[in-house]
Amino acid sequence: MSDTILSLSGVSKVFDLGGGHSIEAVRDVSFDVQRNAISVLLGPSGCGKSTVLRMIAGLEDPSAGTVQLNGQEVHGPGRDRGMVFQAYTSFDWLSVRRNVEFGMKINGVPKAERQERAAHFIDLVGLTKFIDAYPTQLSGGMRQRVAIARTLANDPALLLMDEPFGALDAETRWHMQELLVEIAERAETTIVMVTHDIEEAIFLADQIVFLSAHPGQIKEQIHPEFKQGRVADKESVIARPGYGDMERHIMRLMREEGTRE
Ligand SMILES: Nc1ncnc2c1ncn2[C@@H]1O[C@H](COP(=O)(O)OP(=O)(O)OP(=O)(O)O)[C@@H](O)[C@H]1O
Ligand SMILES: [Mg+2]
Repeated sequence: MSDTILSLSGVSKVFDLGGGHSIEAVRDVSFDVQRNAISVLLGPSGCGKSTVLRMIAGLEDPSAGTVQLNGQEVHGPGRDRGMVFQAYTSFDWLSVRRNVEFGMKINGVPKAERQERAAHFIDLVGLTKFIDAYPTQLSGGMRQRVAIARTLANDPALLLMDEPFGALDAETRWHMQELLVEIAERAETTIVMVTHDIEEAIFLADQIVFLSAHPGQIKEQIHPEFKQGRVADKESVIARPGYGDMERHIMRLMREEGTRE
């Protein structure tokens, strides 16, 4: 039996640019997300990936169609959704511990529980040694791990990530991708992530939603079944029969979209 947590139905977005101009960013996008799955939105630059994610977060309203979370239509942001942005969003004047406790404090979580949950998620992202350090003392990848721990500590039903590893060097990025798979397994969280990195999408995704270039429409929904479930390390995925075919297929989709304009 399928267990759908999130459902987009006929979602479109037109932005008013003023002076009688408008831009259609997203057109008639429909897809479902299963509980505990990792879904990846993939597509060329400007195709509307961030816009779709922001509508799921409730930061933008669709111009048409609906976004439903647990059967309820989304109107505005909520604690059931946590967002990790591309830019590091840690508070530099707070220690790692206080950064991770911050949201829980705002939400009135009692101190003892707050401390315990913060320690748990800081451990999950491998930063226990740095619990009393400040973000400026950390590397970019470590800061992004703080942002992930802080978001997870609020126990969102849905973790939304907009190119969270985009600014990281290749090796850190690869470690972060593996960490995300581990988090998805251990924290039993549902993840919707945006990327334009094909390798990252295939490694992470249970489902890839490929959007065509402007306006963003679903071109294809791809299920990397060759992985036969989640794989903990990236080289094993790349070595699997079926990886090369899927990568080439997605590269062709990308290329078709790139030459359209
Ligand atoms: N607030 C806004 N006002 C007007 N237009 C916007 C707004 N946000 C996005 N757009 C437009 O919507 C389209 C899709 O933008 P979006 O940021 O969703 O693309 P993207 O797929 O995330 O691109 P990238 O890969 O470069 O991050 C673009 O043409 C952009 O100019
Ligand atoms: Mg974007």
